[in-house]
Amino acid sequence: MKNVFVLLIISFLRPVSSTPPHLKYDSIFSFGDSLADTGNLLLSGARTFPFIAKLPYGQTFFHYPTGRCSDGRLIVDFIAEASGLPYLPPYLAVAKGETFEHGVNFAVAGATALDAKFFYSRNIGSQLLLTNDSLSVQLGWFSKLKSTLICSTKQDCARRFEKSLFLVGEIGGNDYNYPFFAGGTIQQLKALVPLVVETIANATSVLIEEGAVELMVPGNLPIGCNAVYLTLFRTPNKTAYDRNGCLKAYNSFSKYHNSNLKLALENLRHKYPHAKIIYADYYAAAIKFFHAPHHYGFWNGALVACCGGGGPYNFNNSAICGSPGSKTCLDPTTYANWDGIHLTESAYRVITMGLVNGPFTHPPLTFPPIKPF
Ligand SMILES: *[C@@H]1O[C@H](CO)[C@@H](O)[C@H](O)[C@H]1NC(C)=O
Ligand SMILES: *[C@@H]1O[C@H](CO)[C@@H](O)[C@H](O)[C@H]1NC(C)=O
Ligand SMILES: *[C@@H]1O[C@H](CO)[C@@H](O)[C@H](O)[C@H]1NC(C)=O
Ligand SMILES: *[C@@H]1O[C@H](CO)[C@@H](O)[C@H](O)[C@H]1NC(C)=O
Repeated sequence: MKNVFVLLIISFLRPVSSTPPHLKYDSIFSFGDSLADTGNLLLSGARTFPFIAKLPYGQTFFHYPTGRCSDGRLIVDFIAEASGLPYLPPYLAVAKGETFEHGVNFAVAGATALDAKFFYSRNIGSQLLLTNDSLSVQLGWFSKLKSTLICSTKQDCARRFEKSLFLVGEIGGNDYNYPFFAGGTIQQLKALVPLVVETIANATSVLIEEGAVELMVPGNLPIGCNAVYLTLFRTPNKTAYDRNGCLKAYNSFSKYHNSNLKLALENLRHKYPHAKIIYADYYAAAIKFFHAPHHYGFWNGALVACCGGGGPYNFNNSAICGSPGSKTCLDPTTYANWDGIHLTESAYRVITMGLVNGPFTHPPLTFPPIKPF
């Protein structure tokens, strides 16, 4: 019995990279925000978020700051590994001449699904916006690159994209983060959800019209379990928290976004029956470690950030990770939250395993599903 338990733990902790490639893609094209950015914000100067240009960002895996908002690899990196492909170069490196053969990453940390001008014109959280490179800008980059470097004729593109995975997100989280951090209420922001979801669905349509046939569209993470939300919206009201210590109302908000997104994707499946449109349930994949952090080696629980400036969740807006008042934990692999906002490489690995091997992609990313090892 004990041996079985130990084996189970080992299989949970086994990195995606040690398994033989079992996704069949030749290329990956990725869009989104800091959950997927492998260097675009950094290459654009990172004036608004200079800390990603320094350690401890990147300390666990790459051992230098790559522009990833984590200590190491992201979901998109683990998906590339599971496909036997190199890590995706950021678009802004490709635009400067870096070569690519197996896809490009257009995601930019801080990006919103809605155009930046939406936030500026209504003055909702716009003072917090890290970048104007929203989803439509990223789609514009893709179109430009496609016509010059990816494929020329329709036939050529069809052949190229037949074995390409398009990751449309995660995107949309920042459309809520900025207004929430600027004082918006859940009730106010619920009104934004249909517009954000329609924008993500429209981007998905645009990519299908451009020739994409396999697309994965992730939902939002449980924001009520995120250290920054737990810090900003901390309350003595115990009934505001669920059994995992997360803020119920904010998790419900994520679920509301996700159920709207799932409906929109269902509509797209009717409109484009030839395309495989996969919903990636990041929420369910992540809630597992918020519920049972010790199962995943997150010995300090999954709510406290590894890197930060103190406080109950180790998130302090006056001393964010990388700034002089902050400290990094000794072993980031024992934490799920990296810097208060983003997750650690270890957490992203657990999520990716749930997408690639597990039940959290609909329809499944791999079919028939890979047996748990
Ligand atoms: C985004 O655009 C606004 C308005 O055009 C501008 O003031 C702001 O500096 C831009 N932000 C970034 C990060 O480039
Ligand atoms: C989505 O696309 C439809 C059809 O092109 C368009 O009418 C609608 O305005 C778009 N919505 C958003 C939010 O961009
Ligand atoms: C406490 O939180 C619960 C759940 O969010 C809410 O329904 C209730 O109104 C809150 N009570 C107070 C006194 O704020
Ligand atoms: C947050 O950081 C500031 C600046 O370093 C510090 O003065 C303050 O005491 C910190 N707050 C907490 C709760 O640790």
